[in-house]
Amino acid sequence: MATKQVDTVVIGSGPGGYVAGIRLGQLGVKTIVVEREQPGGVCLNVGCIPSKALIHVSKTFDKLGHAGEIGIKLAAPPTIDWSATQKWKSGVVSKLTGGIKALLKANGAEYIEGEASFLTSRTLDVKQADGSVLHIEAKNVIIATGSRPIQIPTFKYDGNRVVDSSGGLAFPEIPKRLVVVGGGYIGIELGTVYAKLGSKVTVLEALPGILTGIDPECVQVVARKLKKLGVDVLTGAKAKGWEERGDCAVVTVEIDGKPVTIDADKILITVGRRPNTDGTLGLDKLGVKLDAKGFVITDRRQQTNVPGVYAIGDCATGIMLAHKASKEGEVVAEVIAGKKTEMDARVIPYVVFSDPEIAGCGLTEAEAKAAGRKLKVGKYPFAALGRALSVNETDGFAKVIADAETEEVLGVHVVGGAASDLVSEAALAIEMGAFLHDIALTVHPHPTLPEAIMEAAKHALGEAIHVINK
Ligand code: NAI
Repeated sequence: MATKQVDTVVIGSGPGGYVAGIRLGQLGVKTIVVEREQPGGVCLNVGCIPSKALIHVSKTFDKLGHAGEIGIKLAAPPTIDWSATQKWKSGVVSKLTGGIKALLKANGAEYIEGEASFLTSRTLDVKQADGSVLHIEAKNVIIATGSRPIQIPTFKYDGNRVVDSSGGLAFPEIPKRLVVVGGGYIGIELGTVYAKLGSKVTVLEALPGILTGIDPECVQVVARKLKKLGVDVLTGAKAKGWEERGDCAVVTVEIDGKPVTIDADKILITVGRRPNTDGTLGLDKLGVKLDAKGFVITDRRQQTNVPGVYAIGDCATGIMLAHKASKEGEVVAEVIAGKKTEMDARVIPYVVFSDPEIAGCGLTEAEAKAAGRKLKVGKYPFAALGRALSVNETDGFAKVIADAETEEVLGVHVVGGAASDLVSEAALAIEMGAFLHDIALTVHPHPTLPEAIMEAAKHALGEAIHVINK
């Protein structure tokens, strides 16, 4: 059996693992990154990137359908060539995944394909595609194995009627009737995609509202748009099971204690994700502490309870977002290289690529109030912003939340076109400990969408120029 000795082995090459590998290489730490599937993990292959590609297609298609509103006449209604869309989407993915191996190599880290399982905290075997086993001895290991969709026992993924988010990105054709179980991030993003492409979409959400945890005022704007798109959002609706009947799937859902049935061609299950910390990985052999849901518990240096064993990204505790994983990847690489550092981000921004987008960082109004803080809150509607009007994206607003006494900015939440691009200014502001005046006094170029954040900060101070201060 071949044996390799390295300083650090990273298990998984998603946005956590590959970033850790690159940074370790840069810092001169001899590193191997092991991956059982494709480089890039869920994010690049079957998550963030392909979903954003399909969101772009559906948004463009929807806008073409409304081109008449801005004086553009189309000779014929637009149509979708679904296989061409899928091909384009796959091209986007392969450009990015191809780059990862090259980046690792250029930075001096080795990439190995195969499935890793621990023997001890310092040794592991990697089973390769040709059946051979590579034995690795390392001083440090980084668990970056990511997460997978949760399966509901009564909705077993069959790759045909019932699919997870990966299946939902690659339907052989656009489904006529789509039932989405779970009104969270993925359910709302993909439900919107197919509604715009012509599917009759029903979203079933067990809780009283969709996108739980996000500022309810922001969610309301998205809920209104979903209605406009013809999406039926059923809340307090627990999906119970389904059966094949005639030429379709019949989904049973419990609403107010009563069973209701809905016909569907496809059922997309998006009820959350669970960490890949079980199975053949062999974490049980190491005595690494997991929380009740199976996430690896780490300290702020990403270190587990076992010396030399670190965990980052979706498989570790904390929010399941790609940029959180990447940040942790950088931190853990520097920790292993002997630098004095830890995960000290004040905020981790979030984005829901809904229509319109919701993005934010820091405390929501409800969280800040629950913490007993007195607040100054400013809001600015996109309908009052020149740029938003001139790009025909007037739904939504920016909201800035600050401590009433100190005026330190505690949170910023935006719902509206390009909210995903606006949130980084807010994250920078909070990282830098900005006060309302820091944002309000910063000259923002006109006409641009980020002016909404400046005006919201001014509104919180009672100094907004283009809306009435009250
Ligand atoms: P989620 O946790 O966001 O939402 C799942 C929803 O399913 C919850 O609202 C839950 O109440 C509901 N649910 C559970 N069981 C149900 C049942 N039997 N019937 C009806 N509803 C039920 O999970 P999701 O959307 O699968 O996303 C997983 C993770 O992926 C998220 O936590 C997010 O961090 C990440 N993600 C991030 C994105 C982004 O940053 N734009 C995009 C997509 C995913």
